[in-house]
Amino acid sequence: MNPADTFETVLDIRARAVEDLLRQLIGERIEPGEIARPARLLAAMRHGVLNGGKRLRPFLLLESAALFGADESAALRAAAALECVHCYSLIHDDLPAMDDDDLRRGQPTVHRAYDEATAILAGDGLLTIAFDIIADEATALGPDRRATLVLALARASGIGGMAGGQALDLEAQRTPPDETGIITLQAMKTGALIRFACEAGAIVAGAPMADRERLAEFGSAIGLAFQLADDLLDLTSDTTTMGKATGKDEAAGKATLVRLHGVDWARKQLGGLVAQAHDLLQPYGAGAAALKSAASFVAARRR
Ligand code: IPE
Ligand code: IPE
Ligand code: MG
Ligand code: MG
Ligand code: MG
Repeated sequence: MNPADTFETVLDIRARAVEDLLRQLIGERIEPGEIARPARLLAAMRHGVLNGGKRLRPFLLLESAALFGADESAALRAAAALECVHCYSLIHDDLPAMDDDDLRRGQPTVHRAYDEATAILAGDGLLTIAFDIIADEATALGPDRRATLVLALARASGIGGMAGGQALDLEAQRTPPDETGIITLQAMKTGALIRFACEAGAIVAGAPMADRERLAEFGSAIGLAFQLADDLLDLTSDTTTMGKATGKDEAAGKATLVRLHGVDWARKQLGGLVAQAHDLLQPYGAGAAALKSAASFVAARRR
């Protein structure tokens, strides 16, 4: 087995644990304070979540939590919450008003399998349940730590994070941004949730602020690398491998660093970001091996 395969095996094991919990949380059981869970909306939410994502963000959260000896079940719930926000972002990203995609994770997008209105509501339901999952007392952390997680996830998801980045991405199709503008929009639309993934492990563990900041910085570096790789794959991979349409950025005239500087530059840049990410983990020694592999995977991934 080469190192990338070994990493993917561990990634899959973590993915199963997160999926088991998601299947349970996004299920038929009505929670206190709820009135009913409409079947079609529930099915659409499940379609958007339980459809074979890589679960990289949960992996990063679980491994950063493990680095600081955090409670595993609390970390798993935070990881499930984050994946709900990510899946909501994908459902809305694929809508006709946004990227207008028919295929996601090798299956019809939610608006294709159901309808547009249901897809919008499935996104709403997933965004909301993310905060439900963290705030719930079943997340075995004190109220302060749960509130800190809620706030950090809100900041990463909203106008100053993912949603804001998606807005800048739409604007960029009308007015092409310069390099700094592209980096800002990518740090927001993709980087913010990945940064949260890495930072949240430290929050769950109650690690010192300096560690939380270091992990957040690590997350920012791999967040940029992740979107750079996504843009590269859009140009160089194919639909069967990716499970989603490719060649779309070029066709849409999307502002990406790959379009600006070319493939060779992007590959070199990826190497630099991974090196930077690895350096940030140096103080943690061998304990950070899984996070280091994740950084390498982000740049070398084929899907
Ligand atoms: C795709 O994210 C969207 C981007 C931020 C580029 P992933 O590549 O992590 O998608 P899944 O979750 O594995 O499907
Ligand atoms: C997606 O960026 C970012 C978010 C979903 C927030 P892309 O539009 O490039 O992602 P894909 O390529 O559709 O997965
Ligand atoms: Mg998009
Ligand atoms: Mg898209
Ligand atoms: Mg893309």
